[in-house]
Amino acid sequence: MEIKAIRGFNDILPDEIGKWHFVEDTVRKVFEGFGFSELRIPILERTELFSRGIGEATDIVEKEMYTFTDKGGNSLTLRPEATASLARAYLEHQMYNFDPVAKVYFIGPMFRYERPQKGRYRQFYQIDAEVFGVSNPMVDAEVIVMLIQFLKKVGLEKLELQINSLGCRACRPAYREKLRAFFEKKSFQLCADCQRRLLSNPLRIFDCKVETCKEAIADAPQVTDSLCEECQKHFAKVKEYLGDSKLAYTLNPAMVRGLDYYTRTAFEVVSYDLGAQNAVAGGGRYDNLSQEIGNLDTPGIGFAIGMERLISLLPPGKTFVQYPRVFIAALGEETQRDAYRLLTQLHLEGIWAELDYEGKSLKSQMRRAGKLKAPYVLILGGDELKRGKAVLRDMEGKNQEEIPLADLLKTLKEKIS
Ligand code: HAM
Repeated sequence: MEIKAIRGFNDILPDEIGKWHFVEDTVRKVFEGFGFSELRIPILERTELFSRGIGEATDIVEKEMYTFTDKGGNSLTLRPEATASLARAYLEHQMYNFDPVAKVYFIGPMFRYERPQKGRYRQFYQIDAEVFGVSNPMVDAEVIVMLIQFLKKVGLEKLELQINSLGCRACRPAYREKLRAFFEKKSFQLCADCQRRLLSNPLRIFDCKVETCKEAIADAPQVTDSLCEECQKHFAKVKEYLGDSKLAYTLNPAMVRGLDYYTRTAFEVVSYDLGAQNAVAGGGRYDNLSQEIGNLDTPGIGFAIGMERLISLLPPGKTFVQYPRVFIAALGEETQRDAYRLLTQLHLEGIWAELDYEGKSLKSQMRRAGKLKAPYVLILGGDELKRGKAVLRDMEGKNQEEIPLADLLKTLKEKIS
């Protein structure tokens, strides 16, 4: 039986990879310009990191993690997101000893056992950025400005920035109780999962996609009406700084994000070109995460962008595919060796060249050169070769010229690079 890839796990083929490289190069350029450094984390972590960090009552921890026991009896999990791992690394390497403020980013695959559909996969890539050690709302605006600047640089349009505040340890419990009282009255409308969430964490009812639950959510009390004075001040400052940066945003009091670690600022960037899975990026502040997973009380804020969703939104028309600069058409077995030498010399100079490995006719070699979209074909063979010449054909201009074999490499380099 033919072996195929696992459902929800995708190959990224050579004709798509140009887009990925473009996005990754832009991440590095923009993020490093904002003072962020790359921090690479492992794919596997102890399961506890995510169950404690993301929260036991979340969909991710309850239903979506790829968890297994290794040969040593440890429960390990393929990372479903990067924030908890980056926070662990910040704490484990005591990065705060060098500077209390750490700005880091990471690009890599995440794993969630979700039902695959367009824009939702079981292995998907995220671009993640985090700032540890700053509680000032200035930095909330700073990371949002960086996110929007990056999305602009890759050419994304028709996006909406939505923001909310989720309160803190001081004011969230009262809001949670308010929500519980509200949903208890509507419990007949709630699905079995939400009946459970009502007890474990009623905030998670906002994540539910079941129609009757969505109806119940519609007039639920809003978190922004329950914020303590400190959280209100923080949120007002964030909005003020976003205004200073001339960033347009909408307030979405129903956006609670799917992970339990959030405190205060939460944000999402949605696209109206994406259909059901319309969130391109999401993030927020998580001032208690370090305490949940480590022993340091340090604030943090960050975001993650879904790369597959981002790439599906890139403007059409930009060419990301690379083509060989020259195709060497060698005629006859004798010339194959010359062709091989030339090919190697070009490759050592960093110039992509292709040749025919099959000893095919000139016509068939020209056809392949056309298919590969090589702008030049160098023909080695025939009468010209006997006269110490090769023929360089310009496939776009449709003209050709003879080049002396003696200075083939030099002339070729001048012509094609
Ligand atoms: P998240 O909202 O779970 O947040 O994921 C962030 C983004 O990853 C989503 O907006 C979406 O674009 C993409 N994404 C999520 N799940 C999938 C999937 N199954 N298939 C394709 N794309 C997906 C987080 O992961 C947080 N760690 C973000 C964060 C960083 N908060 C603070 N710092």
